Amino acid sequence: MDKFVVHGPCRLSGKVNISGAKNAALAILPATLLVDGSCHIENVPDISDIRAYLEILESLGSKITKISNNEYIIDNSNISSAIASYELTSKFRASYYLLGALIGKFNDVQISLPGGCNLGARPIDQHIKAFEKLGASVEVLRGNVYAKRTTTLKGTSIFFDVVSVGATINAILAATLSDGVTTIENPAKEPHIVDVANFLNSAGAKIKGAGTDIIKITGVNSLKQVSSYSVIPDQIEAGTFMVAATATKGDITINNCIPKHMEPITAKLVEAGAIVEEFETSIRVKMDSVPNPINVKTMPYPGFPTDMQPQISTLATIANGTSVIIENIWESRFQYTDELAKMGADISAHASTAIIKGVKSLYGSPVKCHDLRAGASMIIAGLIADGTTEVYEIQHILRGYENIVDKFTALGAKIEFVPDNSQK
Ligand code: UD1
Repeated sequence: MDKFVVHGPCRLSGKVNISGAKNAALAILPATLLVDGSCHIENVPDISDIRAYLEILESLGSKITKISNNEYIIDNSNISSAIASYELTSKFRASYYLLGALIGKFNDVQISLPGGCNLGARPIDQHIKAFEKLGASVEVLRGNVYAKRTTTLKGTSIFFDVVSVGATINAILAATLSDGVTTIENPAKEPHIVDVANFLNSAGAKIKGAGTDIIKITGVNSLKQVSSYSVIPDQIEAGTFMVAATATKGDITINNCIPKHMEPITAKLVEAGAIVEEFETSIRVKMDSVPNPINVKTMPYPGFPTDMQPQISTLATIANGTSVIIENIWESRFQYTDELAKMGADISAHASTAIIKGVKSLYGSPVKCHDLRAGASMIIAGLIADGTTEVYEIQHILRGYENIVDKFTALGAKIEFVPDNSQK
């Protein structure tokens, strides 16, 4: 099994450049399906989830030209199929955006139910409700979702019962080429929702209010080519480095980020004792004391992101007191706490709450990644710990962090990728 080996403890210092946002890029790629003509997209993160999505688009008939590892021209003028293969789509969550994009353009669509990180049940009732309100019929059968329509989708009002990032983006995608006006109430407001709307607007869509309490979409007949669109920086990658700086008593400048998007994370790190300086497109995080305990409740944006919960919990393991972490979005997002316990953390998690009593230090141990963000927290734990930490199942980390070993190494970490040679 491939692994990362981390030698701790270390103090991180220096500068790191943040890549494009995974969650924005994974919605913008399917959004290109709505565009007549090519889309030139920059600042696309070079991660395995993106490579998998490009493969799905190619299987549907997209012509993809790779300009560099972070830049693509995608031409969807000749899409030949609205049926996405089970093998390709069942592996990750963001494949469900194909539904919204394809039903906006085609009459018959089929994809498999979403996979992705194992964080608990992944209902899509709100997505289905939005498609049905717009006039599509939707059926879920044997692991596949079938969406059909007989005429152009019709503008409508959609009220979401729960705040859902995926359903909000899917409703935007489906309504973009509809007839009339659609309003979405109780939408999610995450930065990547605004980015998808901005991308679609750059192609001629009429979407207003993304990032606020009501989104209004006036349907247009077609979208035109996009000569250049740059994906926003990754809020969670930036947050991961901010926590790593704080946990290692380091001093890092995080370049190419949007400080406004970082506010919920910044606020908690300041409570923990970090000194955070904000600039226009960068943030400096400095820490020179043992962290204070922190209480965190994950919430939809602008609340504290669920995708930062494992990292902030890892920081709490070495705080000078007891922290309480409440997970409100996903039902099984504390599986990684068993791994931290192997490293000496005093942590007990039941249902949606983890109680973490700070210890003086962690020690190195073999650990495994349960999911993407839990994987990042294993690296942070390895950086704090005394001794060597072997991190297994790193395919989860590679789904969402570009060049993570190089980035941490440049900050002074002793971390290496060790390939599995047992197959040779
Ligand atoms: C969620 C997170 C997102 C994170 C991603 C991966 C929120 C609001 N969303 O996005 O920040 O990047 O996980 O960790 O923080 N739900 C339903 N019915 C639906 C859709 C969702 O009940 O049709 C529920 C889910 O079970 C979950 C909550 O709504 O409890 C939020 O889900 P949603 O935002 O859709 O999930 P993702 O888009 O995967």
